[in-house]
Order: sequence, then structure tokens, then C-alpha cells
Amino acid sequence: MYAQMVKSEATNDDPEKLAAFQERIDRGEKIEPKDWMPEGYRKTLIRQIGQHAHSEIVGQLPEGNWITRAPTLERKAILLAKVQDEAGHGLYLYCAAETMGVSRDELTEMLLDGRMKYSSIFNYPTLNWADIGAVGWLVDGAAIMNQVPLQRTSFGPYSRAMIRICKEESFHQRQGYDAIRKMAEGTPEQKKMAQDAVNRLWFPSLMMFGPSDKDSTHSEQSMKWKIKINTNDELRQKFVDQTVPQIEFLGLDLPDPGIKWNEERGHYDYTDPDWSEFFDVIKGNGPCNVDRLAARNKAWDDGAWVRDGLLAHAQKKAARKHAAE
Ligand SMILES: [Fe+2]
Ligand SMILES: [Fe+2]
Repeated sequence: MYAQMVKSEATNDDPEKLAAFQERIDRGEKIEPKDWMPEGYRKTLIRQIGQHAHSEIVGQLPEGNWITRAPTLERKAILLAKVQDEAGHGLYLYCAAETMGVSRDELTEMLLDGRMKYSSIFNYPTLNWADIGAVGWLVDGAAIMNQVPLQRTSFGPYSRAMIRICKEESFHQRQGYDAIRKMAEGTPEQKKMAQDAVNRLWFPSLMMFGPSDKDSTHSEQSMKWKIKINTNDELRQKFVDQTVPQIEFLGLDLPDPGIKWNEERGHYDYTDPDWSEFFDVIKGNGPCNVDRLAARNKAWDDGAWVRDGLLAHAQKKAARKHAAE
């Protein structure tokens, strides 16, 4: 199905249909799975929703790594709930992508063999407990910044999935901030761990918004189709403006000496992340790319007997029903 879809993308869409489609989007109507849509729209959304789903699933790995080592029972229960939420987010999103004619198995296979990507942030390790706070606060915080506008995206199933996801993400961010606040207000060693976590995760979090607008290949058409609502740079700036006062409130040092309030712009100036690092991580050379994909491949292989069992059960049930009719 996916292969067919990619092939048919080369065919030109009917200009009249295209214009009517654009008018619907301009009027603020939602596009639903059975409606006509240009192949480029379908293909872009499958890539975007699929990558998003994969990010939720792979994103469980750096945090799952700390469940057994959470410092208290309460923190452990919170982290467990959060990591489970991420699995749920992955499932809503795979379902949204499936409405466009690609199966969850196909998407999974494309993740496992590297044809599809997930957010570059999850290729960084979580080295200490403060990282778990920083991930919730900064990484989920950046995710929310990206996702809140997507509640208004033009594709109905994606927009509805986002509404539910955003509600849960705000809990994730709050628990992260609470965890890191405890560390920042703790012993000098704990404060040092909090500072180290912020220093290491700051630039990778800024990278989550994607390359600068001038280097972003998909932006213009996606904005016209309301697949994307804000530009990467707009969202990144919003994230910096929201987060700097929070870092100051924690009594931590800013992770970038270039951060300075710019009276004229009414925004914080900041140093751009090292984009060569970003592209290198995307290419597969981040600190954890190999581990992450190996973990997902192992989970898929280990789960083969469950899938086989479910399939056999469904087939037997269907055969019994058929025999009874
Ligand atoms: Fe999530
Ligand atoms: Fe989250």
C-alpha cells in the first residue's frame, strides 16, 4: 500500500480538485480520511504523523531506563505513568496514520530498518536522575510547544489525537519541572546534577523544533495545508522565552552565555544550536542511535509470538463463526 502510494504521488492532481481542497482548508474545515486529498498531503502527513508516533515509542527508552532507579516510590509511580502515557500517544498516532492507508506494521518496519526517523532528542542518553526531570521539563516542554498549535491542524484524526495528547503532556512537563526543582533546591551535589542535566539537554531541546526556517525544506506547502501552523524559528523562540525565566527561578545558571533579553525585539536572544551536530544525529551518528534501534528491533522480535498468537486466535474465531453460520 505504501509503495503504491509513493508511486502515485508522481501523478498530477486535478487542479480543480486541488483548488477546492485548498478552499476547504482556508475555511478552517477539517479533512477527514475518506475525503479527497492530494497525494502530497497524504504523503507529508504519513511522514509527519508516523515520525511523531515513532518518537513517542522510542522516547520511552531513555526514561524507561530510570524506572527501576527512581529515588522514591512516588517518583517511580509518576515516571511509570508518564512512560505509559507515551506508549498511548504512540498508539493514537499510529491509528491516525492508519486512516491514511498505511498500516501500523508497515510504519513499524520502516522505523526498524531506518527508512523512517524519530525525534533526534531521543538519541541522547539520560545519565543521571536529574536528566529525568530535565527531559520532562525541557523535552516534553518543547514537544508541547510544537503540539499545541497542531490541535488546529487540518487533518481531523491528527488534530483530535493532539488534543488528547496535549492534556497529558502538560502533566509530563509539570512532573519534570517538579523533579528538577527538588534537585535544584537540594544538596550542592544535587544542584550540580540539575545544572549538568540542563547544560547537556538545552541545545538538543532547541533542535527539536527542526532546522532554521531558511533551511527547512517542507515548511511552505505544509503551512498552506495547515499541516504546520507556526515556523520552526517562531516556536523555538517561544520555547526560549518561556524557559529562561524558569531556569532563573530554579537558581540555575543559563546553559548558553548568548542568552540575553533583547528589549527591541521583546524576546531573548540565544545561540543557535550546532546544526552540523543535528544533521549528524539524524544521519544515525548520535550517541544512542544504534542502541535505540537495537532496543526497538529486539522488542519487535521478542513480540513476534504474541502477534502470531493473536492472529491464530482471530483466524480460529472467524472460522468458528463461519462454521456456525
Ligand atoms: Fe507524548
Ligand atoms: Fe510526554
